[in-house]
Amino acid sequence: MGKILVTGGTGFIGSHTAVELISAGYEVILVDDFSNSDKKILDQLAVITGEKPEFTELDLCGEAKVKEFVAAHPDITGVIHFAAFKAVGESVQQPLKYYRNNFYSLINLINGFNQKVDLVFSSSCTVYGQPDQLPVTEDAAVKRAESPYGNTKQIAEEILIDACAVTPELRVTSLRYFNPVGAHDSALIGELPIGVPQNLVPFITQSAIGKRGPVTVFGNDYNTPDGSAVRDYIHVVDLAKAHVAAIKRLESKKATSNYEVFNLGTGKGSSVLEIISAFESSTGEKLNYTIGARREGDVEQVYGDVTKSAEQLGWKAELDVNAMMLSAWKWEKYLKDNPF
Ligand code: WQD
Repeated sequence: MGKILVTGGTGFIGSHTAVELISAGYEVILVDDFSNSDKKILDQLAVITGEKPEFTELDLCGEAKVKEFVAAHPDITGVIHFAAFKAVGESVQQPLKYYRNNFYSLINLINGFNQKVDLVFSSSCTVYGQPDQLPVTEDAAVKRAESPYGNTKQIAEEILIDACAVTPELRVTSLRYFNPVGAHDSALIGELPIGVPQNLVPFITQSAIGKRGPVTVFGNDYNTPDGSAVRDYIHVVDLAKAHVAAIKRLESKKATSNYEVFNLGTGKGSSVLEIISAFESSTGEKLNYTIGARREGDVEQVYGDVTKSAEQLGWKAELDVNAMMLSAWKWEKYLKDNPF
């Protein structure tokens, strides 16, 4: 088992992936600049895994610091790169902040390893926009991004494709997440939105616990079964396990090319109203919600074809929306008694 560098390691998906890597027998070293996470997550990881993970505070935008870090850790055998800004709305307001951070960090990281590294990259189903066909497969057309955030994911994939094309020792797997939700069963780690949550599930749990007013359903006039928009929600623990599978595939050298892409979803679409009723039925909590206008930039319906991930990663999601809602609710209740 190698030693895996997890950038953005105290973030939502990074912290859950650290847990799964450790339980799979890997050594991990986490880096983060705490721009969108809390240092306390390191203590939480120590409780969950029984060991405080090795950690370095590092801003990946600093080229020299990244080179120094990599040179000081020659035992790193693979990298999972989560560190990036990811708020869709904020990216529209501050595009250069997003382009600078998300590209400087990626390019510095690859150059830090002299372009010879096994890298798992955190991408997003956002690259598909509104697919022409559903479920969407990995070879579907990438569409013009609806936001600078989505554009950073598209361009990052192109950077990786071009770099891999000329450097066989650079081996990359891009994982296109659908909608990551939920929390670790211990309720010691989970999503930590800053300010008013932009995403549906953290808004639901904050509304249910009384931190926010009623949920607004952004549109019920879509061409979907109940009129509300459809997404492929995936439990963050299932998503974390997929990253371990991706690292194992890179180590096994089974890949047919040094650049691969996989969809990480459940393959099932759920509407906003279905998520609301799943939350109510799994937690027993009543949710207040109102129907509002559509949100600018939202797609109507997207869910993934996950055949390739099952066949080539040997991974499939196991947890359903009820488990997602219950874990998200347990985490929200933990935060109420243990505010970060
Ligand atoms: C889901 C659905 C909203 C809030 C984004 C990024 C994606 C990933 C996940 C980073 C939509 C509706 C939401 C609310 C609502 N981010 N909604 N009321 O927009 O599908 O995906 O976050 O990796 O890359 O694009 O997720 O949770 O914001 O919205 O009705 O208060 O819930 O309109 O249909 P989204 P979301």
